[in-house]
Amino acid sequence: MIGGGYVGLVSGACLAAVGTNVTIIEHDPTRLNRLKAGDIPLYEPGLEELVAEQRQAGRLAFSDDLAAALRKSRAVFIAVGTPTRRGSGHADLSYVHAAARAIAAHAPDGLLIVTKSTVPVGTGRQVAAIVRQARPDLTFHIASNPEFLREGHAIADFMQPDRVIIGLEDSPTTPSTARTLLEQLYAPLNGPENRLLFMGLESAELTKYAANAFLAMKVTFANEMADLCEATGGQIADVTRGMGMDPRIGPHFLMPGPGYGGSCFPKDTQALATSARQAGTPVQLIETTIAANEARKRRLAERILALAKDNITDCTIAVLGLTFKAHTDDMRQAPALTILPLLHEAGATLRVHDPQGMSTAKPLLPDDITYADSPLQAAEGADMLLVLTEWPVFTALTPAQLATKMRGRLILDYRQIWQGHDWQQAGFHYHCLGCGT
Ligand code: UGA
Repeated sequence: MIGGGYVGLVSGACLAAVGTNVTIIEHDPTRLNRLKAGDIPLYEPGLEELVAEQRQAGRLAFSDDLAAALRKSRAVFIAVGTPTRRGSGHADLSYVHAAARAIAAHAPDGLLIVTKSTVPVGTGRQVAAIVRQARPDLTFHIASNPEFLREGHAIADFMQPDRVIIGLEDSPTTPSTARTLLEQLYAPLNGPENRLLFMGLESAELTKYAANAFLAMKVTFANEMADLCEATGGQIADVTRGMGMDPRIGPHFLMPGPGYGGSCFPKDTQALATSARQAGTPVQLIETTIAANEARKRRLAERILALAKDNITDCTIAVLGLTFKAHTDDMRQAPALTILPLLHEAGATLRVHDPQGMSTAKPLLPDDITYADSPLQAAEGADMLLVLTEWPVFTALTPAQLATKMRGRLILDYRQIWQGHDWQQAGFHYHCLGCGT
């Protein structure tokens, strides 16, 4: 498994857990040393324990020696980063190409090379071309096997997958070495209803982008419907419940929020839009989704400033949640990174708390923000309280608890975690997204 990042670590540890011997190759010496010391450099529930258990069982190892690992491997997975290339929406494939070159240098005959990183359509064939050019006589097989892990739920998503997408270079229906090996590898995760879906390389690569872009679009649709509910007196929870009971729509990914973030949706929507434009078939729905999501974060900041009226410089705002969603320490493209600087620039005093994200957030946010040890400490003396993520520790708070801490009485619940409470009785004004009445 090339890459000891999020995807490589989760996939490596989970494959080990179902009986495969895995070596994770990490070339960054600091990260490798941390991994070898059992220190997992990211927050993912259950991962540290799983890694420790699998290393103990002798099925999982960390190394920087790809040549040695390949000598004893039948398959190699490329699980390196594909960030957005600066100044363009393109995915930066330099790590994928470097991995392909490194594999080519050491691959044993018959090796299966699998792309697990999220890569634009056509990348699998580029990997094959790199290897073929370097080793014209080598026999090898190529596959694309995108992952569908959600941060915070990654182990369960890997162990009980909705589907395992496998793209093959040769016809996906004819028996092949690649197909047989991947069937064996995933057999322990494949239920009786067969979750393995074989297809061509290009289709597998596109499936990953299409799925993420569709989900980003669904969330953005819910966000815009929430705005419409607010403007017209509707309740988004009722509207989405009513929509979601139609099995063609489904109930998931319709919870309005401050805009989608994370390492995947923003990057993958950009990459899909760019690939599509390049192919001469722009996906206008995705282009619009990207623009709507960006605008949303700024608009919510403006809305908060409007609520403070002319008193923003005297206003203390408690912010609960900094990461792009709950159950992660990931700050990438988090709405907080747009909203908080705008509030700060306008003169607001900010007191924030996040159970996992504060140390990552600190260098990314303005200097004079107060980082509180608990949500109630963040609420101390605040005029308004803004919820940006849905951590259970926030959900558990009650109006009575907040009333003892806050100076003001304004709650901006941008994750709808406190809708059931009687805020009015506790003297609060309660706003949530899409609650029109
Ligand atoms: C996403 C996909 O859900 C995974 O299937 C995929 O494997 C992963 O990207 C990836 O490509 O690696 P993730 O980025 O962990 O997973 O986050 P999600 O749980 O999908 O949430 C994405 C964003 O949408 C978050 O900002 C979240 O707060 C927001 N969201 C989600 C909403 O605002 N409302 C919803 O109803 C659902």
